[in-house]
Amino acid sequence: MDKFIIRGGTKLTGSVSISGSKNAALALMPATLLASGKYKFENVPDLRDITTMCRLLESMGVEIEKTGHTLYINTFRVNKFEAPYEHVKKMRASIYVLGPLIARYGYAKVSLPGGCAWGPRPVNLHIEGIKKLGAKIEIDQGYIFARAKRLRAAKIAFDVSSVGATGNVMMAAVLAKGTTIIDNASIEPEITALTEFLIKMGAHINGVGTRRLEIEGVDALHPVNEKMIPDRIEAGTFLVAAALTSGNVKLENCDPNHLTAVLSKLEEAGASITISDDWINIKASKNIKPVDVTTSVYPGFPTDMQAQWMSLMSTAKGSSVITDSIYYDRFKHVPELIRLGADIELNKNIAVIKGVKKLRGAKVMSTDLRASASLVLAGLITEGSTEVLRVYHLDRGYEHLEKKLHSLGAKIRRVSGKEY
Ligand code: UD1
Repeated sequence: MDKFIIRGGTKLTGSVSISGSKNAALALMPATLLASGKYKFENVPDLRDITTMCRLLESMGVEIEKTGHTLYINTFRVNKFEAPYEHVKKMRASIYVLGPLIARYGYAKVSLPGGCAWGPRPVNLHIEGIKKLGAKIEIDQGYIFARAKRLRAAKIAFDVSSVGATGNVMMAAVLAKGTTIIDNASIEPEITALTEFLIKMGAHINGVGTRRLEIEGVDALHPVNEKMIPDRIEAGTFLVAAALTSGNVKLENCDPNHLTAVLSKLEEAGASITISDDWINIKASKNIKPVDVTTSVYPGFPTDMQAQWMSLMSTAKGSSVITDSIYYDRFKHVPELIRLGADIELNKNIAVIKGVKKLRGAKVMSTDLRASASLVLAGLITEGSTEVLRVYHLDRGYEHLEKKLHSLGAKIRRVSGKEY
């Protein structure tokens, strides 16, 4: 397993290009199962999660060719309607194949994802939504078996706004008979990107980007080409990296509109932000002011930025409170940040961070993607060197993180597992 060795203390400066959105690509790739033919996806990030989704789709008979950041997907020969445990256990987003398979082929066998690194993440809303559309669902031996002749429209109101359940149920409803209403739909940009993609494929959907989606089922869809939106969480992570190191960084190929909550918190923390249509410049102040955040659904502060924000607050001039209201247990980074010298007290889903003067290098590791990112960020300001182990978590969701940080001046290098 590779590790990163980081020598802290360098201000990040320069410009960095933001990759395509992992979570948008993970939703749009399964959506190709909805119509037979050839698709071209551009700006697809080169990530382990994308490779996992490719392998899963290929196991169903989809042909995929990758050239740089472009995927050529051909769904002409889909012949297996199953997402086996070996794929789903690697990546929960595999559950996205459930909606398209049941809608188009009338059958799906999809492994239940189980818990994730930081706690339980149920899929009850996905299952209930698809059941409401008329599918017969059985759970047996850790698998969801779904069957239906043709799905029929339903009124679905989610108790909790869920990105995955909205995506899955919407993908099922586009081919159902009649008009489906989804209330309390997710309005995260990745879901809006999926909705727009489905409309391009011929779906009839009203209410794009709102909490009420009206989906009039059609008999068939057709393949189209698409360019992935920029990754707002990668962008947010680089913004925090710049803020932590008193840096001056320009993010290119990003969408500032998707980052309003993060940008306004960074300004509160003392950073100067300039934005245009597709770039953001951050000029950080030397003194980081303490700023509380509570994660919430879009357009609120994303849970996927909570861990990184905690690294920033660890050397702020005062105390701050971070509350995760989406995932109550998502705090695996806390003990590791404490190992680096941070002063954090955790009570259920509320962390109180007392800013310290400096962090000290140590060996740290985490069990999930964003927690690992927060450790790399902290490593950028530690005295002495920090080793972040189990870098494969980062490779799931950050494209060439060490190379991009290095290009901004960070002293970071990857050591391959074979070398130590
Ligand atoms: C997606 C993102 C993930 C992000 C999360 C929240 C992808 C591939 N992943 O995950 O990076 O952290 O959104 O922004 O896009 N819930 C239920 N029942 C369900 C489904 C969800 O109770 O059936 C709850 C969850 O426990 C959580 C909340 O709903 O508290 C939101 O989760 P959800 O939006 O579904 O997250 P994911 O789609 O899994």
